[in-house]
Amino acid sequence: MTTSATTSTTPDTPTTHTAPLAVRGPLVRFRADPFRTGNAAALEHEPDGLLICADGRITAAGPYAALRDRLPAGTEPVHYPGHLITAGFVDAHTHYVQMEAVAAFGAELPDWLDHTYVAEERFADGAHARRVAASFCDELLRNGTTTALAFAAVYPDSADALFEEATRRGMRIAAGKVLMDRNAPDALLDTAQRAYDESAALIQRWHGTGRNLYAITPRFAPASTPDQLEAARALHAAHPTTLVHTHIAEHPDEIPWVRSLFPDRDGYLDVYDHYGLLGPRTVLAHGIHLTAAERDRCARTGTAVAHCPSSNLYLGSGLFPLREAKEGDHPLTVALGTDIGAGTSFALLQTMRDAHRVAKLRGYALDAVKAFYLATRGGAEALGLAGTIGSLTPGQEADFTVLDPRATPLLADRTSRAEDIEDLLFALCILGDDRTVRATYTAGRRAYDRDAATPFGAG
Ligand code: GUN
Ligand code: ZN
Repeated sequence: MTTSATTSTTPDTPTTHTAPLAVRGPLVRFRADPFRTGNAAALEHEPDGLLICADGRITAAGPYAALRDRLPAGTEPVHYPGHLITAGFVDAHTHYVQMEAVAAFGAELPDWLDHTYVAEERFADGAHARRVAASFCDELLRNGTTTALAFAAVYPDSADALFEEATRRGMRIAAGKVLMDRNAPDALLDTAQRAYDESAALIQRWHGTGRNLYAITPRFAPASTPDQLEAARALHAAHPTTLVHTHIAEHPDEIPWVRSLFPDRDGYLDVYDHYGLLGPRTVLAHGIHLTAAERDRCARTGTAVAHCPSSNLYLGSGLFPLREAKEGDHPLTVALGTDIGAGTSFALLQTMRDAHRVAKLRGYALDAVKAFYLATRGGAEALGLAGTIGSLTPGQEADFTVLDPRATPLLADRTSRAEDIEDLLFALCILGDDRTVRATYTAGRRAYDRDAATPFGAG
């Protein structure tokens, strides 16, 4: 296999030059990881907050009373009284090419994958890819998600389509064409060399272009030969600021399968480790059945796990040990993923609810402060973007979501009796969904307004 080294782009790109924007209303954000510091030290709640934004970034954030004098002349804040402003949600694992495979009937992962392969084959058609990419991005915004780490199909065009549609909406997307050269239908297979060449061309085109980031995306160890994983290693070594995105230890049957395919390796995680694919820009989806030693190795290498509870419940894959992952001697970086289309909702709010349910089935009550953290700043940390998005601090990109605690009669009734901010957040987690998202802002522009006629671009 031939490889070519290229200089990597630094992905730190304020892109849109927009008019100043100010948004006023109750605001929550995270100073730290509440699993480490406790909730009180981590959560900042401003009952009457103000965000001032210019050129796609936050220039000031804090109490309205303290910041009102800093409003640029002529800038009237968009006011959301009785709502809640949060950092835009980060979906740390999803498949845009599986949007049409959602709610496919099937048994557990191995059978279900056959449904999704049929859906992915349709992305050989570029027009289909563009149509689905547009709906996928609209659906993210409707659910308050401003950043996603997504699988495309094996066809490079399918990745182009997603980057183009996300760019039109000012979103921050990390994505890559999937790599697979065995154990899948022939139409979906590439080779080690094609994986390298096509990914390298996409990296050149998209990584650090606007807000886009490239993720080197081997599907999972069983679908790649050692040669292809070697190609992934070479790509990441040549472009070290790219992300690495794959699956691990989702279904119990994967573990003996990986052992039989990689007899020289010491387990599933060791396959990725051997090929240099662990590190602070790596996101492994699921990780339900990782051993404690494997979780420890993830923590030591800075490798993140995307917990996808809606998918895990739908496929019956198992119950992720969140408490063990976050509270052991070496806590892991954990984020939340929807895993569309095995996951059944685009809403990070519903994903938080499912994370609560899964944790409870393991005897752990996940509170809403920690759940919101996982869906915002935790996601930013998993993607290596903690300095850039996820906590609504000055200098960060202006991605935020406005939630409506009165979006449905039941939610209105429950939140009218909320005892404090933690209780309000909990009601939003358990009862919230796409209807709860009043507006979504990307790079300082309103990209979705629930109450406006058009799906995006209203502001
Ligand atoms: N493991 C390998 N591929 C996939 C996929 O597309 N979805 C899920 N949930 N798990 C996988
Ligand atoms: Zn997945």
